[in-house]
Amino acid sequence: MNFLLVLLLAVVPKSVIGLRRIVDGCIINCPALYAPVCGSDDKTYNNLCELTGVAVCKDSGVTKVKDRPCGVGNVIMVDSYEWAIDAPKVKIDAKSAININVIAQIARQSDAISGKNLWRVGIFGSRYVDGYGDRVGFKSQILTTKQASKRPKKGKPLKIKNIRSRFDISQIGCGELRYFCVELAKNPDSTVDFELRAGIMLDSIVTCQELECRRPSPEEEELPPTCLQACPSPQRAGGPVCGSDGQNYESLCELTKQALCHGVEVEIDYPGECLPEAIVSGMYWTANARTNVDNPRLSLLSIQFLLFNDNTGVNIEGTNLWQVSLFGSENDQGEGVRHANLEQVLDPSISSTTLVGGFPFQLEFSVPYNTSAVGCGNVRYFCLEIKRNPETSTRFILRRTSGERTIISCREVPCIPPKDKKLLFFNNIRWNVAADFFRFDEPSDLILNVSVEVAPNSEEILGGKNLWRIGVYGSRYENGDEDEKLGFNQQVLGASDSLHSPDIVPGRTLVFPLTSFQFDISAIGCGDYQYLCVVLAKGPNAKPDFEITNNANKRKVVSCRRIQCIRREVLPPPPPTALLSYLSWNLTIKAIRPDGGYNVSVAVNVVPDADTDTIRGNDLWRIGIFLSNATTGIMAMSQYQPDILDERNKAIPLVSGENLLFTELPAVLNTAGVGCPGATLQFVCIEFARGENPTPTFHLPLGPSNAAHSCRPLFCQQT
Ligand SMILES: *[C@@H]1O[C@H](CO)[C@@H](O)[C@H](O)[C@H]1NC(C)=O
Ligand SMILES: *[C@@H]1O[C@H](CO)[C@@H](O)[C@H](O)[C@H]1NC(C)=O
Ligand SMILES: *[C@@H]1O[C@H](CO)[C@@H](O)[C@H](O)[C@H]1NC(C)=O
Ligand SMILES: *[C@@H]1O[C@H](CO)[C@@H](O)[C@H](O)[C@H]1NC(C)=O
Ligand SMILES: *[C@@H]1O[C@H](CO)[C@@H](O)[C@H](O)[C@H]1NC(C)=O
Repeated sequence: MNFLLVLLLAVVPKSVIGLRRIVDGCIINCPALYAPVCGSDDKTYNNLCELTGVAVCKDSGVTKVKDRPCGVGNVIMVDSYEWAIDAPKVKIDAKSAININVIAQIARQSDAISGKNLWRVGIFGSRYVDGYGDRVGFKSQILTTKQASKRPKKGKPLKIKNIRSRFDISQIGCGELRYFCVELAKNPDSTVDFELRAGIMLDSIVTCQELECRRPSPEEEELPPTCLQACPSPQRAGGPVCGSDGQNYESLCELTKQALCHGVEVEIDYPGECLPEAIVSGMYWTANARTNVDNPRLSLLSIQFLLFNDNTGVNIEGTNLWQVSLFGSENDQGEGVRHANLEQVLDPSISSTTLVGGFPFQLEFSVPYNTSAVGCGNVRYFCLEIKRNPETSTRFILRRTSGERTIISCREVPCIPPKDKKLLFFNNIRWNVAADFFRFDEPSDLILNVSVEVAPNSEEILGGKNLWRIGVYGSRYENGDEDEKLGFNQQVLGASDSLHSPDIVPGRTLVFPLTSFQFDISAIGCGDYQYLCVVLAKGPNAKPDFEITNNANKRKVVSCRRIQCIRREVLPPPPPTALLSYLSWNLTIKAIRPDGGYNVSVAVNVVPDADTDTIRGNDLWRIGIFLSNATTGIMAMSQYQPDILDERNKAIPLVSGENLLFTELPAVLNTAGVGCPGATLQFVCIEFARGENPTPTFHLPLGPSNAAHSCRPLFCQQT
């Protein structure tokens, strides 16, 4: 059994963006992830990285204490839970001694706790494999104080061995009651405050096992082949039985032999030895309904109930003797389907009332009951049944004077129509949010889990539709003030009905499956809006309709939490970039100078890349001209004229798709001996670069020298 797997997989963030920001006056380089931890300074940090960063920066020696915000108490997490039962001698219709061993694997992330009465282990029979529904024969605590105080160790199994108790195991496995369940829970009397978690279950874990039927089966009994042969030993033949003649027989085989071989008129009445009997000759009762303050949906029925008994002198005494069931029926005999059946309405003290032989037997009790389930439609009768309590300490038979074992009395009652809304009672709403892909100023992917404690007096809703809406917003106020909802996401639950409508079971924690949605969480925490609020509200078309009764606003519950500020360092926008494809150029000799050199004119054409940014301004470009010994690499430069552009040419704008054309650029070159065999200088070159002080500034990526060179050979010109 591994509860945690699904949750953990879903919560691990896929990637996070690293950010530098200031925490407690330190510059910290950490992922912007909200995975809060509690430090030894009792401060909550957004994540472990931040805690470590601040600890190093301040040399404070702060360490992580818990993997959750400070102020959340101790948590014990259970990875897996199993148990084994041993019942050496099973008695029929009576409690047998049982011995249970329980092992719960305590997760490594749990807190260390020690104290008294930490645990509660309960046992019961159930019709369902998950222990849901009626808990038959429920014993809520079977641990001794010593066992209940066993200390859990992180990462180690918690073993509670040799838990002894008594339970009527023979009830289980034979009919509809197929499962035996063992519940491990936090003991309400614990001296340490902690939360017990197993996957999505809080405070209690139940697992059930199907048990084999331990009753002897009368059909399978076989008589020895002849009346002369002996029956098998009583133990092998299923033990003693009580005959219809009120006599004990060693086994069903013995009884059958008496009947068939010796002509005794007897049938099996019930397995086991004959028991004392309470014989009922009549029954009288009254029931009054009153309003129930704890739960207005269930009226409080006060019942007075009298049995006239015929048995002479036999007292029935002990504990848990009686079971009284209340139900609605379609006929005056209480046969068939039982509507709104309450299996046992007596508390242990009333259930232990002694029946004094020969005297009327009286019980009085009050019980919350759904009066609107009875009296309407076909269900016209309200019935009361008394039976022997299956948990009785004394075995006895309850029967009518006529011999019947059923003691049921029904009465026609008026119809009180039910109210149209279910009433829900909620306590704490818990929620957690984790940011996956934190982003500034835009929605981040958030994962939300929400759970709510459904009070035991709430009404049940199974298989409802569109029950819930979960909204998320930022607020200025801790109470999530109505008028101020920042970035309100009204419904984060997905379209599927199972997400909207998990079953609501009184006394159980209602857990919404993890939901992911988008929300700009960076808008919350730093400025006016410091609170993140989660609103749990009735869905717009909830079926069935309901009200949240213990809340002023009957349709919703709001819960807000302060979110830590995550600030962003503001970077200036990057400068524009000029991207060039290639350049070409021409040189024209204009005049021969008296000193033998030339006045030349240069034309340069620069072709920009299609992706270039547009650059407009002043002093954008520089073009130089020189003579050189090589076309590329390290050059010997001569007659270097670094800047032959005038203001106008320097300001020609660069626009994608338009060539940069520089014409009539004047320069002076003395080319005597250049290009001749043996001469050092062979080439004339131009240099293209960014202006010295361009406005605005821009990038011109032209390699390490920040300039582009283009050279051409010169022909030898001896003078
Ligand atoms: C909710 O999520 C947090 C992690 O973000 C996890 O520690 C916690 O166990 C979850 N609670 C439930 C009830 O699933
Ligand atoms: C009472 O019974 C009626 C009719 O069966 C049903 O609709 C209603 O939900 C029940 N109420 C409670 C609180 O169980
Ligand atoms: C160089 O001269 C050739 C021929 O006259 C002409 O086609 C070309 O456009 C000129 N290049 C530049 C950059 O002026
Ligand atoms: C060469 O150019 C200079 C200006 O740069 C000018 O003063 C001079 O007259 C020119 N020489 C000839 C021969 O044209
Ligand atoms: C050009 O001159 C430089 C510097 O004097 C020298 O390092 C380089 O080797 C020369 N290149 C050629 C091809 O002569």
